[in-house]
Amino acid sequence: MTQTAPIIAMSGLVKRFGTLTVLHGIDFNIERGEFFSLLGPSGCGKTTLLRILAGIEQPSEGALLIDGQSMSGVPANKRPTNMVFQSYAIFPHLNVEENIGYGLKNIAISRAEAAERVAEAISLVKLEGLGKRNAHQLSGGQRQRVALARALVCRPKVLLLDEPLSALDKKLREEMQLELRALQRTVGITFVFVTHDQEEALTLSDRIAVMDRGHVLQIDTPRGLYERPANRTVAEFIGSMNLFSGRVTRIDPDGTVEIEGAEGTFRGTARSGFKAGDAAVAAVRPERIRINAAAPEAGANGVSARLQASSYLGDRSLHVLTSTASGQQITVQSGPSAEDMPAAGAGGLWLHWPTDAGLILPD
Ligand SMILES: Nc1ncnc2c1ncn2[C@@H]1O[C@H](COP(=O)(O)OP(=O)(O)O)[C@@H](O)[C@H]1O
Ligand SMILES: [Mg+2]
Repeated sequence: MTQTAPIIAMSGLVKRFGTLTVLHGIDFNIERGEFFSLLGPSGCGKTTLLRILAGIEQPSEGALLIDGQSMSGVPANKRPTNMVFQSYAIFPHLNVEENIGYGLKNIAISRAEAAERVAEAISLVKLEGLGKRNAHQLSGGQRQRVALARALVCRPKVLLLDEPLSALDKKLREEMQLELRALQRTVGITFVFVTHDQEEALTLSDRIAVMDRGHVLQIDTPRGLYERPANRTVAEFIGSMNLFSGRVTRIDPDGTVEIEGAEGTFRGTARSGFKAGDAAVAAVRPERIRINAAAPEAGANGVSARLQASSYLGDRSLHVLTSTASGQQITVQSGPSAEDMPAAGAGGLWLHWPTDAGLILPD
């Protein structure tokens, strides 16, 4: 097996619990050294897929290769993977070193090497000086570091992390995200990270698989998912997006598609094939819309709207408007300065955006 082959290759993975199918044919690869996230709402099958990678669950159908080897019949403790669980199961009666060393109990190495590896893991997760401290004397963030160190001490090829930061408060979680990313770069191990938090996935990942009800909807970089969502569900799940529904009325040879709906006629870029009459949505990010007193020129994107509320957020302002035609709510983000703020209570505003800021997606 060459070093450039994917570290994880999944083909046609199906998982059924009785009559319930929770994974519907999962097919994708994870490359060596990637920070890869599985992102999706609760219940979409993220943990189940991670447990299949770990060998804790068996797939009902399909094949899984890790590091070029079939994992069929390979038990969890014989796989080159290690898992960090959502609730960090560390032993309260053991100290930090003993907890981390516990990860090595099934590996035949000398005491001296074990001590060296534990010390290295302690330093990786920045717990120096706390080796003799009992687990129950640690903060939530420190306990999570112990759980990470215990998984890293075995030097797995793949580290599987199931919402490992979800029990931490927001500030600590953001700190740990940065540390986790730096740690992954340092050790160079492939991380497969499960989260339902899109901001967390965008912050951490090289690539993300967006999952919904047992299907993978799209796999892309954070930028790719944000700028080129494949469909309406991904567009709504990643960041904030305004969606206007309609029917396709025109398709230009350059890939520009026009749709007509209750809020107006919109032109944008399409990646999938459409034909006239197809149901579609025009999708536009809040930061791509400009608020204007005048209607756009003929053929340009525009929505007639009324301002409901503006909020000043320091570095930017958010404006909530409603379409005068349909009452649909529209979110616009502008700069923070007073000139960017439309006059409060103003009627008869127009929202403009350029063709290349609008995506036409299948509905
Ligand atoms: N052991 C099990 N038996 C029956 N159903 C299960 C089992 N484990 C998970 N499920 C179901 O599979 C679906 C996916 O669960 P899970 O993988 O935990 O989702 P997620 O981690 O994305 O929240 C859910 O509907 C869940 O209830
Ligand atoms: Mg889960």
